[in-house]
Amino acid sequence: MDFLLDVTDLHVHFHLREGVLRAVNGVSLQVRPNQTLGVVGESGCGKSITAKAIMGLLPPKATITGGQVLLAPREPGGTPLELSSLKPNGKEMRGILGADIAMIFQEPMTSFSPVHTIGNQIVESIRLHRTATRKEARDIAIETLRLVQVPMAERRVDAYPHELSGGLRQRCMIAMALCCKPRMLVADEPTTALDVTIQAQILTLIRRLQSELQMAVMMITHDLGVIAQVADHVVVMYLGRVVEKADTPTLFAKPLHPYTLGLMASIPRLDQNEGTRLHSIRGSVPDPFFTPEGCPFHPRCDKFIAGTCDCGEPPELVDVAPNHAVACHLFSAGTTDSGSKPTTEECTEHAPA
Ligand SMILES: Nc1ncnc2c1ncn2[C@@H]1O[C@H](COP(=O)(O)OP(=O)(O)O)[C@@H](O)[C@H]1O
Ligand SMILES: [Mg+2]
Repeated sequence: MDFLLDVTDLHVHFHLREGVLRAVNGVSLQVRPNQTLGVVGESGCGKSITAKAIMGLLPPKATITGGQVLLAPREPGGTPLELSSLKPNGKEMRGILGADIAMIFQEPMTSFSPVHTIGNQIVESIRLHRTATRKEARDIAIETLRLVQVPMAERRVDAYPHELSGGLRQRCMIAMALCCKPRMLVADEPTTALDVTIQAQILTLIRRLQSELQMAVMMITHDLGVIAQVADHVVVMYLGRVVEKADTPTLFAKPLHPYTLGLMASIPRLDQNEGTRLHSIRGSVPDPFFTPEGCPFHPRCDKFIAGTCDCGEPPELVDVAPNHAVACHLFSAGTTDSGSKPTTEECTEHAPA
């Protein structure tokens, strides 16, 4: 297995009173050892649920209804761990969380208990996964706080979460995630709640730790600017599907999916004239209860072809170059860039009168 994490055709459904909500619809993605995979898409596209499904941390009403999640074996030559077959919150899964896969979230206050010091919480986490005395664990905690550049770590270790600034709390959360030296860090919008300067510092820190600790990172964000700074590979998600997949230089040099182009156009640029309005993709992510027929992005797409994009099954992800795949009728077999695909019989039948 070349991958640290290999997700194939993952489906996650919420069973709600209103019906079944398909939050993740056949997502496949791979995280390579010692590299950063960026997962990007607007809010509500299924990024967090994909990550939670991988880690067995889905909310009670959600279940994995299909697909496979494989984690590379700990020792070379061992058998991969099939995470999707483990009992969520079971002993085996809890052994993997923290030790093999650790996570950080947008809001550190939800990861820390307000009534215990930062140090005690890191110590507990260490002792859950490693055999260490309290004194040893405290030393590891201080050492990890230094690693994430918390100033005066030996004093801050005794601070309560509310006594720290947002940026420092985020560093402490990263320290807690890293204290057991996981093979992979899942970071779900870790800088969204921070202001821009602190955001840049935290991203630099994650990048540095990733290479120093030889760790893989899955970076989830709605912001392609963040992807540009940290990711080696990218998957773009829309309505629970992967719509484009590439290595980062390729994605930025040659974005293909109209959704990716829309996300690109909404990144502020230095060479833009002052006062220029930022482009935004028209409309908003539809309610997943009412997913549009055909390509789910078609109602918002500037390149939409009537009779092709609005009927049938969603376009499949197809390889267009090595390390570059896209799910869009403009690039499906038999079509050209100009979108001159002939209207099929089936589409004509379904096309609105
Ligand atoms: N606890 C929940 N109960 C019901 N629906 C949920 C819950 N969490 C997420 N969803 C739905 O699942 C879909 C994917 O959500 P999510 O993965 O959180 O999106 P993202 O992280 O990309 O913003 C959304 O339609 C969202 O409304
Ligand atoms: Mg999210």
